[in-house]
Amino acid sequence: MKIKNICCIGAGYVGGPTMAVIAQKNPDIKVTVVDINAARIAAWNDKDLNKLPIYEPGLDKVVEEARNRNLFFSTDVDTAIEAADMIFISVNTPTKTYGQGKGMAADLKYIELCSRQIARVAKTDKIVVEKSTLPVRTAQAIKSILHNTGNGVQFQILSNPEFLAEGTAVQDLIAPDRVLIGGEQTKEGLEAIQALVDIYATWVPLENILTTNLWSSELSKLTANAFLAQRVSSINAMSELCEVTGADVNEVANAIGKDSRIGPKFLKASVGFGGSCFQKDILNLVYIAKSYGLNEVADYWEQVIIMNDYQKRRFASKIIQTLYNTISGKKIAFLGWAFKKDTNDTRESAAIYVADQLMEEQANIVVYDPKVTADQMQSDLNYLNTRTEEANATNLTTVLDPYEACKNAHAVAVLTEWDEFKTYDWQKIYDEMKKPAFVFDGRGILDQSTLESIGFHFYAIGK
Ligand code: NAD
Ligand code: UGA
Repeated sequence: MKIKNICCIGAGYVGGPTMAVIAQKNPDIKVTVVDINAARIAAWNDKDLNKLPIYEPGLDKVVEEARNRNLFFSTDVDTAIEAADMIFISVNTPTKTYGQGKGMAADLKYIELCSRQIARVAKTDKIVVEKSTLPVRTAQAIKSILHNTGNGVQFQILSNPEFLAEGTAVQDLIAPDRVLIGGEQTKEGLEAIQALVDIYATWVPLENILTTNLWSSELSKLTANAFLAQRVSSINAMSELCEVTGADVNEVANAIGKDSRIGPKFLKASVGFGGSCFQKDILNLVYIAKSYGLNEVADYWEQVIIMNDYQKRRFASKIIQTLYNTISGKKIAFLGWAFKKDTNDTRESAAIYVADQLMEEQANIVVYDPKVTADQMQSDLNYLNTRTEEANATNLTTVLDPYEACKNAHAVAVLTEWDEFKTYDWQKIYDEMKKPAFVFDGRGILDQSTLESIGFHFYAIGK
């Protein structure tokens, strides 16, 4: 079975870049990415590649090559579904904010809506691919919706979770550690798996394309994120122990990372992990485990989140304590708001929670981030519902110049590891700050001895 026409529902951080790369590498396949968000689609179609709705290094080049050749962005979901022989579902699956499983379970309403739309529109057989991260056994629910249309159309459901990380999405898509494809182990299921393998095989070595049953594939995605986040919480837990014992967390991470069984990646102590997925996926895992009555399994993984929340609070508390337990009316400069460097994404960013805690103490926060807009920062704070929108707008402001952010500040806090922060004229920043001048490096990117020799009082996590 040779796929000629792909539709992807959801033009977000995953759907956009993933389909752009599939289209780039398969010029003979027509790829249409659809979304109900018209502004987002318009941005994907914008002639000015700086206006793409998401910022990812290298993405503009890929889009430029494939767009309007065999890559299209549209709001006409029905037409794209009807024309496609393979449909990726790449919509958001946030944590539920209501009802049963509130605050834990994944909200699958967008997945169900897509499934129902496909069931309603499809007139020819299709392969439906779960690209979104989903609770294990979701394919069962999708199947039951699709197989009850009564119109004779046949569907195969595949799970093909995405492992890209933001900020390196294009690189991760072009050279993935592995591609994972799960499907039914029937003749038709195996044919569908092969059709998707063929698409990836145009650029991914076959030995890096793993095929499994549906449930292993769905569960592997949640497991991968849980393991990655657990490493961050583990090193963050050690960071506090380092601070009280005189050990240096970077030295500890380096020492343990040399053990090939542990490995050096994902051992950077920080102000806490953020991003749209780690917390959501672990909460989902905890919920699933509990729903099967596996309470010890649930408690084990929940601790990863508890540790992460603690790390964010601990960083904010450190700032408050160090500034003589009173930050009311003090200016605190934030360098960075995104949840990691090289992205404009702020979902679950540690900066939001640290800012919120400091604002409860009536600090004035002034933020500089190279990619995040003032509106986004305000909407992140307003979402927490801690205080009025007016109070948020008064107590947290955004500037476009890092030196302006730091001028007359009592303290500078580094919340994102943007490379440019390392290259600033820290002497100038020091000269223009209130004294004593404090720096709180939540990302371990600044050189402590250089900053201390300028005169800063310096705090880094885990030292
Ligand atoms: P996103 O919010 O950026 O994009 C989802 C898009 O789907 C939105 O633009 C929304 O308008 C659209 N949408 C929702 N319902 C729709 C419908 N019925 N019809 C058409 N469009 C609809 O989300 P994302 O970050 O791309 O994540 C998507 C999924 O991929 C999630 O399950 C996430 O867990 C998973 N994932 C994300 C990442 C990441 O780095 N962001 C990485 C791997 C996996
Ligand atoms: C993560 C995974 O790395 C991807 O494989 C996965 O596809 C994705 O989640 C997803 O499912 O959404 P992402 O959240 O984009 O990707 O970025 P990461 O590089 O994993 O960083 C997550 C957070 O952990 C960031 O806030 C980062 O600063 C923090 N982190 C990461 C640390 O604090 N220390 C580290 O050593 C590594």
